[in-house]
Amino acid sequence: MAEFIHVSVAWPYANGDLHVGHLAGAYLPSDIFARYHRLKGNHVLMVSGSDAHGTPIAVEADKRGITARALFEQYHKRFLETQRTMGISYDLFTHTDTENHHTVSKDIFTTLLDRGYLYKEIQRQLFSVTENRFLPDRYVEGECPICHYANARGDQCDNCGNLLDALDLINPRSKNDGSTPVIRETEHYFLNLAAFIEPLQKYLADGKDHWRPNVLALSRNKVPDLMGRPITRDIDWGIDVPLPGWEKKKMYVWFEAVIGYLSASIEWAKNIGQPDAWKQWWYNPQAKIYNFIGKDNIEFHTVIWPAELLGIDGLYAKEGDGHLNLPYDVPANEFLNIEGQKFSKSRNWAVWVPDILERYDPDAIRYCIAASFPESKDGDWNWAEFVQRNNNELVAAWGNLVNRMLGFARKNFDGKVPTPAALSDEDKAIIAQSEAAFETIGELLNTVKLRSALNEAMALVRDTNAYLDRRAPWKRIKEDRDDAGTAVYTVLRVIDNLKLLLAPFLPFTAERLHGYLGYQGSLFGEQVIRAYQEAGHSHDGLTYDGSKATGTWQPSQLAAGQALAEPAPLFKKLGANTAEEQAIIESERAYLGQTRD
Ligand code: MF3
Ligand code: ZN
Repeated sequence: MAEFIHVSVAWPYANGDLHVGHLAGAYLPSDIFARYHRLKGNHVLMVSGSDAHGTPIAVEADKRGITARALFEQYHKRFLETQRTMGISYDLFTHTDTENHHTVSKDIFTTLLDRGYLYKEIQRQLFSVTENRFLPDRYVEGECPICHYANARGDQCDNCGNLLDALDLINPRSKNDGSTPVIRETEHYFLNLAAFIEPLQKYLADGKDHWRPNVLALSRNKVPDLMGRPITRDIDWGIDVPLPGWEKKKMYVWFEAVIGYLSASIEWAKNIGQPDAWKQWWYNPQAKIYNFIGKDNIEFHTVIWPAELLGIDGLYAKEGDGHLNLPYDVPANEFLNIEGQKFSKSRNWAVWVPDILERYDPDAIRYCIAASFPESKDGDWNWAEFVQRNNNELVAAWGNLVNRMLGFARKNFDGKVPTPAALSDEDKAIIAQSEAAFETIGELLNTVKLRSALNEAMALVRDTNAYLDRRAPWKRIKEDRDDAGTAVYTVLRVIDNLKLLLAPFLPFTAERLHGYLGYQGSLFGEQVIRAYQEAGHSHDGLTYDGSKATGTWQPSQLAAGQALAEPAPLFKKLGANTAEEQAIIESERAYLGQTRD
């Protein structure tokens, strides 16, 4: 039976370009997972969007002297373009400044308020007299009260790593103009998380064996001490608090950004003209919701968002709809370092996706990141490894296997898949191995062990190359044409299987290979990209529907006699020799830490 799989992907702050850490943390794992499930024939709804609000956007906009809206619109467009080029196959990539998202967020705020889960409290906060406004914690610097580092930020000390309260900073100063802020009182709404301790404990106790141990441990740890958390802010960019007298305040960005998973599902359903369709994922007890995020976002997804969902259960439901689903799994990834050092935006120690897409193919980038996915510990992006993996694994092992066989078959067997004679045990064994991989690799993909899944597929590539070297049809053809044809047929069957097994990771080259093998149509179905112009926005947005379920995750039935198409190499070798490879590695390393134009 086809399953309903919701792929909820972290919403990137629209205040800068995407870097490879974003891809490794959430965007690529979610895409691989979604593509696998579509091939499996499951109903996937994969949504995300630009996180448009909050201090991260406001701070960056101030720095550039532009409005928050202008900044967010600029990067929203960049995100769409970058992710489309990378092949991240959303059903909808929207943003948190849509009218729909504002409405859903307000509905949720009001529901929580009506049900008694919100309360008001007066807080003391730093206020800038010169700017006549409250300063977000990140706008304040001062001496760390714990380690006495002189330049701690109000929210966190970069020296000792402790989370801070800006009020505790010694000699605080405004980051904007260096002036000394004063303490003023301000009223905010709080989400009473204590009310959800019991249901959250239950949620995190039952049937969580499939969760990553670090995600589960961190989440369970947070629950017993839950208290209230402020969910409004003194800021002018964000979603209005739907109450009279609160015109000067906005919802806290994290409170509303997670709501995007639900609001985007609703928006998607409206877009396809079936306004209730989102419920197949949210109110269906058989459906599974997966949140793909980086490890710094765990608590928001395993504690706070589930608490919000528990608090609004039944919202938008009809009689008999049942309960809202909580995340089934939150497979958070660790961080991706760059050449052994931590990513840093301020030092530009980063590899920016739009930049490398000018020089490399998306599948090469996808492959290299997936091969070092930080699923259980921090990973590393390393340019020497990128070149080595591209040249040895993609070009020499996989690409050459394909090219050699397709070229040989076209030349010697009339451009067709040869008709095999009786298969030997050795021939049968490699076919059987590649067929069994649908089960083993499928299970690894299904349990979000994506890196192992890729390793298994590449092990099969190596075994197939070894088989081919033993069978050596280019020699056999002189002595026994039928036997050579049998070996070629066998390898083409295995290649056809590998095409699918690798397709979630390498969708662009898998589509090409699909055509070279003589199939019509596309493997994943077409991606439909639709433009939309939203009221109140100056730009045209884009929304694109990912491909639909195909149910083609099944061993090859490649028919003898199928006409093969003219192949071209699937991958490009980087550098013709060691010296050229070294030059590429060095020129890429030279970008790190430099100012980016
Ligand atoms: N914008 C946040 C970040 O980039 C992630 C938000 S995930 C969300 O860290 F789903 F909560 F929106
Ligand atoms: Zn400190």
